[in-house]
Amino acid sequence: MQRMRRLRVSETMRSLVRETSVDISDLVYPIFVIEGAGIKNPIESMPGIYQYSIDRLEGELNRIKNAGITAILIFGIPGRKDEIASEAYNDEGVTQRAIRFIKRAAPELLVIADVCLCEYTSHGHCGLVRGDEVLNDETLPLLSKMAVSVARAGADVIAPSDMMDGRVRAIRSALDENGFSCRAIMAYSAKFASSFYGPFRDAAQSAPQFGDRKTYQMDPANRKEALRECMQDIEEGADLIMIKPAMSYLDLVREAADLTGYPVAVYNVSGEYAMVKAAAANGWIDEKRVVLEMLTGMKRAGAKIIITYHALDAAEWLKE
Ligand code: PBG
Repeated sequence: MQRMRRLRVSETMRSLVRETSVDISDLVYPIFVIEGAGIKNPIESMPGIYQYSIDRLEGELNRIKNAGITAILIFGIPGRKDEIASEAYNDEGVTQRAIRFIKRAAPELLVIADVCLCEYTSHGHCGLVRGDEVLNDETLPLLSKMAVSVARAGADVIAPSDMMDGRVRAIRSALDENGFSCRAIMAYSAKFASSFYGPFRDAAQSAPQFGDRKTYQMDPANRKEALRECMQDIEEGADLIMIKPAMSYLDLVREAADLTGYPVAVYNVSGEYAMVKAAAANGWIDEKRVVLEMLTGMKRAGAKIIITYHALDAAEWLKE
């Protein structure tokens, strides 16, 4: 008999043979920054997550630093939206001011800037719209402008989440031409048209006002296409690739990691967070153990980077 249980007899033995661990340095914490002053708005569908105005960010930055979190992902919510997402590439926009503030207040934090137009457009789509079509090539210059603008504000990593074709190449050359050749691109490579983004769209006020995102985000059924998206983004200049959402797509995390050899990020999205919080609030699951098990699963699947709203709690639990 193969006695597999010999290696499970005690915690010491188990930890000796443990194959996967989650480190605090793997975690990225998303932050929502909203135009205005004195604001700390709770997101109803994401307990524990708030929209902060810039003047209220400092306390949150301290919490992040004290937890030992080293990287954050910034989403800005502008006061003014229009058809062409003007605030997305305004050097004085809320996102740019937030990044400058964070880089001054916490220079050691790695700032990843989400680059997409949906929070900034009146129609809520991730690109320019003509009639009911979301335009691809016409959107690329605006994404490039936004990328350069957030880089100028101090963003260390540019993370395009729009899913337009060719955006990584366009953003890479715009960054290079403007003296930001050392700023990395983390591409949301395989981003699926998922129903798990609902709570985020409340938080970022970015729900599309008509239609859906299925003409640009991926069909959840497609595996080979997801791998093509990853390879294409790498070919266009991505330094890091991402699979999003996490839980229903861990097969692709493994495949992308094996296939490309690039560091793979996974985005444990808002709906996944909301489900855990709701079940935990009802006393139906043990939140801490469930979260740590999920994060371990993501690491075991091959993710190097985990973007998660659980990051602050998880960091505390990992220290215990
Ligand atoms: C912007 C963007 C979205 C998310 C990250 N960047 C929403 C969307 O595509 O509608 C979702 C993140 C989450 O659900 O936590 N395009």
